[in-house]
Amino acid sequence: MIFHVLTLFPELFSDFQRESIIGRAIEEKKAEIDLIQIRDFGLGKHRQVDDTPYGGGDGMLMRCEPLFEAFDSIEKTRKRGNEEKMKKIRRVYLTPQGRKFTQRTAERFVHYDEIVLLCGRYEGVDQRVRDELIDEEISIGDYVLTGGELPAMVVMDSVIRLLPGVLGKEGSHQFDSFSKEFGGKREYPHYTKPAEFQGLKVPDVLLSGNHAEIEKWRRGKLR
Ligand code: ADE
Repeated sequence: MIFHVLTLFPELFSDFQRESIIGRAIEEKKAEIDLIQIRDFGLGKHRQVDDTPYGGGDGMLMRCEPLFEAFDSIEKTRKRGNEEKMKKIRRVYLTPQGRKFTQRTAERFVHYDEIVLLCGRYEGVDQRVRDELIDEEISIGDYVLTGGELPAMVVMDSVIRLLPGVLGKEGSHQFDSFSKEFGGKREYPHYTKPAEFQGLKVPDVLLSGNHAEIEKWRRGKLR
């Protein structure tokens, strides 16, 4: 699965794509992150990417031309790579005005071959980009961040871990919080050794070895 990330700050993704489970998934070619510097498509000597809004108002908006060109560059490489069979792609804009991202969204995204993630900065992007280039707008929560880079990482992390073979034990996300298995509820509490720590005890049932009782206890603890 390929993520094409359009951003003015590709360096923010360095550690994310190198470390831990995501780093391994990329190394094993289960996922690929294609970072595209929007400024490479900027206008003029200063590679301008933003401008003031028509009609007045605070802040700057990302201009059309660099973004249309950046999207075009993705299309060109796609066409070269898969002449006979175009792969399934979804073009996503990360914005607080988008639909709320949930585990269901991640489960839906995992079925695409390629996902474009447009990271906004400033006050956002020209509406023509949203109208013409974007399939879907996503928000990771009701708060405003300085840009779409952290949301893009949130989306990629939650989707990559669902790809086949990425988590150690195949299907070990089946019992995640919010999974269908748990009826969309949060997972039960977990404990590990020691059985008692500073007077704090692990519930007896978990030490009992009675799997039916343990299962019952766990189901009862779903929130
Ligand atoms: N960009 C800024 N804030 C955001 C949010 N909450 N979700 C997605 N993209 C954003």
